[in-house]
Parts: sequence; structure tokens; C-alpha cells
Amino acid sequence: MTTLTRRAALGAAAVAASLAMSNGAQAQGYPNKPITMMVAFAAGGPTDVIARIVSEHMSKTLGQQIIIENVAGAGGTTTTARVAAAAPDGYTLIMGQMGTHAAAPALYPNLRYNPVTDFTPIGVAGITPIVIVTKKDFPANNLREFVAYVKANPDKVNQAHAGIGSTAFTTCVLLKAQMGVQKLNAVAYRGTGPALNDLVGGQVDFMCDQVTNLTPQITAGNVKAMGIATPARLAVLPNVPTTTEGGMPDYQISGWNAIFGPKGLPADIQARLVDALDKALEDPATNKRLADLGTVIPNKTERAPAGLAAILARDLALLDKPLRETGAVGQ
Ligand code: MLT
Repeated sequence: MTTLTRRAALGAAAVAASLAMSNGAQAQGYPNKPITMMVAFAAGGPTDVIARIVSEHMSKTLGQQIIIENVAGAGGTTTTARVAAAAPDGYTLIMGQMGTHAAAPALYPNLRYNPVTDFTPIGVAGITPIVIVTKKDFPANNLREFVAYVKANPDKVNQAHAGIGSTAFTTCVLLKAQMGVQKLNAVAYRGTGPALNDLVGGQVDFMCDQVTNLTPQITAGNVKAMGIATPARLAVLPNVPTTTEGGMPDYQISGWNAIFGPKGLPADIQARLVDALDKALEDPATNKRLADLGTVIPNKTERAPAGLAAILARDLALLDKPLRETGAVGQ
């Protein structure tokens, strides 16, 4: 070894040792500054709403503020890539979801993250049944009429979604396959929060959206629910028939929202975050806020890191083929 390379090697070893020490120190005092939880969609949508409700209680447990930062774009993949590349120190997290983690790999050939290997799973924060909703004056009043109208008028119907690969996009790909409809006019938004505003305003015709976003608007009669893709009706939406009742028993799908950190999060930081999420979902007031919106609270096994890994693996497998067949390829 030359003097130069020996010096370089010693320097690298010293940097590695000091990094290890600082990681250890951070883990011991964690958290000693505010945590950022990224939301890869606009404010007011289901990802944002669930992130805000859950993080409010988590921050009490952790003794530090959790700041929600909404940065939308490319179906949430830009921000998700940013979190994958962040320092694994527990100060940058993401409220990931079915779109960003399970759908994107099939649609973005140059995706800059691997949803399985580039993240440390914390846990599932909410399971979100999908509802097919239309604007108030859409010329159909139930799922059978909706399917008949869309099949007869594919050029007239506008579908809103939250970007290629979003949950709204993905679950409508499955719906279109079930209906035997190839293509509809699609309008991409930065999240289904703003998309829902336009659905209420009548600028677009329909969406496949997560219930968390929709419950107040359905209850107020501002949009019409054609069917919910669950085996049974939801208690908070007793008047919304299931897709089985509407003649589409095979359209059964729920989204999910889950907290991830970058890969390599120290185990003790991961454990503190898992515990904070558990406490949030076990808190009666937090649980009720989510449940009142129709969000299904995962049990402790389902929401644990291993449960999240299982849901992710299941949906990566489920969505791969139908999404690749759409030919809707992002950058
Ligand atoms: C989605 O469709 O992926 C979400 O609804 C996006 C959002 O939270 O706005």
C-alpha cells in the first residue's frame, strides 16, 4: 500500500467510525428534533388525511413534532424516491401507499427505488376500501347503470385520478378490465383531494377513490357512490351497496397507507416508530377519527413491519400483470 492509499484508507475508516458513532448517538437520543413525514400527493387526499391524523398522536408519544410535507408529482414516485435516498436517521419518513409502493414498479421502467429493498417498514396506518363515485348528476344511479352507460359512451366519460400509478389510477385499471372497457378520457390531478373538488364541481365524471377521502361528500350527497369494493357494506356508509350487490362480485379492492423510512434505519429507531404507530391506532380518539371516515384499522399483526411487508408483496404480485398490460408507461 502506498502512503497515499494508506492515508486514504485511514481517512475512510475514521469517517466510517465517526458516522457509526453519530448514528448510535442519534438512536439513543432519538428523536431530538422534529420529524418530517413526506406525503407524495396534494393536501386533502386520503394519504394526507391519514398521515395528519396518525402523526398527531405519534408526535405526542415521541415528544417531537411530526411535520407533514406534501410534494406531489409523477404519481407520488418523485417524493418516494427522495425518501428512499434520505439519511436513515428516523427524521425523514413517508406515508407510502398502494400506488407509490405496489403499483409504481409495473408502470415506471426507470423507477429510482425498489419498494421492498430500499425502505424500512414501520407499519400500516389504514386500509382504505375503494368506492366508485360519480358526480352528482351523472346519468346512472347504481353500479349496473354505471357500467352500461360507460360501455355505451366511452368517449364521453372522464375519469379523474391522482397520477399514473396512484391508487385511484390503479384501481380504475382493474375496474376497466372488469367492465371490458379499454380506455376512457383520464384527467390526472396531484392527488384525489383536488380531484374530488372537481368531481363535486361536476368538471369530471367519476373516480375510483379511497373511502377516507369520500365519506363526508357521499354522506352530504355531493357525489354519488355506485359501489364499495368490499365484501360487506361499511357501517359508516350504510346506504352504499357493495360491488357484489351491484353485479361485480370480482371487483374487490382496498388501498392502504403505510409508514416507511429509508432502508438501514437503526432497529431501535424503527422500534420507537412502530410503538408510536401502535399507540396512535390504539388511542380511542385517533381510532375513531379514522374509522368515522371509513378507514379500516389494521390489527396489530397486520400493521406490524412483517404484516406491511406481506401486504406489499401481495399487491406487487396482484398488480404487476394488469398494470403492465395497460401500456401506460411513466418516465
Ligand atoms: C391515490 O389515488 O393514490 C391517492 O388518493 C392520492 C392522494 O392521497 O391524493
